Amino acid sequence: MLILGIETSCDETAASIVEDEAKVLSNVVVSQIDIFAEYGGVIPEVAARNHLEVMMPVVKKALADANKTWDDIDAIAVTHTPGLLGSLLIGTLTARTLAIIHQKPLYAVHHLKSHIYANWLNTKKTPEFPLLSLVVSGGHTQILKMSAHNDFEIIGTTRDDAVGECFDKVAKILGLPYPGGPAITSAGKNGDSNKYKFPKPNVENLDFSFSGLKTAVLRTVQKELNLPISHPSHDLKNHLSSQQVADFAASFEKTAVDYLLSKLEKAYAENPETKSFVVAGGVSANELLRSETEKRLPNVFFPERKFSGDNGAMVAAAAYFEIKSGVEPTDPYALNIMPRSSIA
Ligand code: KG4
Ligand code: ZN
Repeated sequence: MLILGIETSCDETAASIVEDEAKVLSNVVVSQIDIFAEYGGVIPEVAARNHLEVMMPVVKKALADANKTWDDIDAIAVTHTPGLLGSLLIGTLTARTLAIIHQKPLYAVHHLKSHIYANWLNTKKTPEFPLLSLVVSGGHTQILKMSAHNDFEIIGTTRDDAVGECFDKVAKILGLPYPGGPAITSAGKNGDSNKYKFPKPNVENLDFSFSGLKTAVLRTVQKELNLPISHPSHDLKNHLSSQQVADFAASFEKTAVDYLLSKLEKAYAENPETKSFVVAGGVSANELLRSETEKRLPNVFFPERKFSGDNGAMVAAAAYFEIKSGVEPTDPYALNIMPRSSIA
């Protein structure tokens, strides 16, 4: 079975052809990162316009790279939510139009499900059930339990910011570019990760809070510079030395990773039958998160680095397992393609 996966939830326009259990035949990703690095974040209106420009060439290239034609494609899968509304509309409208024209079944796939299924792409050894998944992206921070394919239960979630968003906001305070994750890692290379201590947010059960951590970094920077808390955050970078930036980046990264893993360990203690751990989403590219998870938990899976950020292959993989689980395709003419917001 060949599935075309389309993804436009944020600032990547992506399409991919995936065969059966997640063999990636082509993977085309056009990123708008260079555009938004200048602004320090994504501007939704600009992102949607850029998706519109490159969407069809990206789909065409995905078919050409895989050496396939429309006749070979068995189904079309698209991210329908969550994400930026204007961006999602470009992908879903493209997918439903293509499904009508080429008469293919259409699968509207939840974005977080796709991130989790990135762990099945191009791998021989696949995660065993029941598993716990830590989904860490720019928009989400969740722990999910999966007892079988396409069977999800959210057991922990952030009450405010997502961890990726926190990386991006802390990077901005430190004068580092967007996206903040890779920028924080490289700035922190020569930093002392024990230099600054940030209190871990005190949220019960398996939920997270990241806005408190961002504020803790902000207040510590202001204190370190002997500036009042009223001092504008966008100006702090002009007062920080490169060593201070490195120390703040390293200390923040260590705290964020430790906080994520303390919750995942707690989830394991409450679910001792867990057979594997699956880390997913843009932040799963983080080196420290990768090495620390492997140290602290057994049987850990991460997506191949090129599949940790947004891509079409993971959307196709998620649709494949929906099809295997008996999920019916979405009617491309239906009104409700957007509001199907639950991961289950
Ligand atoms: O999954 P993703 O590509 O898009 C969303 O679905 O949100 O995640 C983007 C997020 C950004 O916040 C970015 O800063 C973060 O992933 N990120 C990282 C790394 N690479 C990307 N965070 C930490 N370390 C990284 N190496
Ligand atoms: Zn994503």
